[in-house]
Amino acid sequence: MSDALVDNLVRQLGPRGVLTGPEDRARFEQGWRYGQGIARCIARPASTAEVAATLRLCAEHGARVVPQGANTGLVAASTPDASGQMVVLSLERLNQTIELDAAARTVLVDGGVLLSQLNEALRPHGFWFPVDLGADPQIGGMVATNTGGTRLLRYGDVRHNLLGIEVVLGDGRVLSLLNRLRKNNTGLDAKHLFVGTTGVFGVVTRAVLQVAPRPRQRAVALVGCRDGETVLQLLSTLEQDLGDVLSAFEVMSENAMAAVFEHQPGLRRPFASLPRFAALVELGTTLPAESLDLGELLATRLGSFLDAAGDSIDVVMGNGDEFWQIRHHISESLQKSGKMLAFDVSVPRSRLPAFTREVEALLAREWPQVRLCDYGHWGDGGTHLNLLWDEAAIGRPAAEVVAALQPRIYEFAVQGHGGSYSAEHGIGPHNQRYYDLYTAPLVKQLAALLGQFCDPGDRLGTVRLG
Ligand code: LAC
Ligand code: ZN
Repeated sequence: MSDALVDNLVRQLGPRGVLTGPEDRARFEQGWRYGQGIARCIARPASTAEVAATLRLCAEHGARVVPQGANTGLVAASTPDASGQMVVLSLERLNQTIELDAAARTVLVDGGVLLSQLNEALRPHGFWFPVDLGADPQIGGMVATNTGGTRLLRYGDVRHNLLGIEVVLGDGRVLSLLNRLRKNNTGLDAKHLFVGTTGVFGVVTRAVLQVAPRPRQRAVALVGCRDGETVLQLLSTLEQDLGDVLSAFEVMSENAMAAVFEHQPGLRRPFASLPRFAALVELGTTLPAESLDLGELLATRLGSFLDAAGDSIDVVMGNGDEFWQIRHHISESLQKSGKMLAFDVSVPRSRLPAFTREVEALLAREWPQVRLCDYGHWGDGGTHLNLLWDEAAIGRPAAEVVAALQPRIYEFAVQGHGGSYSAEHGIGPHNQRYYDLYTAPLVKQLAALLGQFCDPGDRLGTVRLG
């Protein structure tokens, strides 16, 4: 069947620029964790002008569009709906530009460049983009989500490292905000409208990022802790004593680690028996080891902590890469372990132990077959309280378990502890209900007005912020 929009897109973008067959479309239609739909076609523009042309054509044909980066998001925001009418606008061919200004310590980069690709280009110059994740997203998607990751404690999120962007609005207008300045207080800093708003106001085609000097040395330890309070004590001690070089403080629960060792038999178990929590502590510095030996520093400091804390902790110094591998395999291992309901919540750090215990108590009381496999970014208050269960053993459809537990846990986090129901994964169909529930009415009105301006046909994205 012929489709005039698709024909026009092919004319505009060339045959490589448009995919239509079900096999070619498949990888764009299925999200990494949530989200599955059917696309009308996949448009793959290779320049800002082509993105603009794509959006203009879609506007002329009244077609809705979902922008997509590397499709590694976790809230179903980058996949099309089930209508078969949405165009997926993939940025994967817009990935040529990586222009470093070493003296300014900034880089201009195309939206479709992968994080790994950017870091490879920066490495020979002694820099990196330090917003660090297990996945390999595209820069434009990272901006649209405002990803956080494992080193936020030291380097901040994407917003914190973003100087400028170029964005194509819903009707094809190009808004160039490619600021390269760190200091620039000249009124509305409009780039922030496009950060963390999931591409509903426009498609991020280029970004100016500040980059960081790559650390010359790192030291990593795993510290097994009996309870959450001990984890927090460790964090406070490390911040007080080694705050300038502390670059990550991640936490993995016993159940989360057990899932990793089950699915990654190649990984070595660092503990004889798994503790309730293991904190992954990383120090990093640009100083050479002759000036400051981080391994020695960390061992000494943890040694005194161990003396004071007695048998509530267990320290393992060792190969940082191995420890990070355990950490980065959690998400994937849990996904393979049964039915899973994932959370990406944050609360003030001081509340993490109490909040976690509340969730444990709820499960013990009402859903004893559901296992809490929590892990996350305790250094910045983030915790992925993922729940796992065996559907056959529980004898209820997964949707019922989700409906019973998801709203309660979000309520504990948001109402009970002043936390967030989406700490770093952004907004998507997966959590739209909670956006609707917890967002102030005035903020929604403001978002609706911005939407009218930026995307007059209301055709971008699969979430509704207004
Ligand atoms: C992580 C992802 C799921 O922290 O946010 O592993
Ligand atoms: Zn995370």
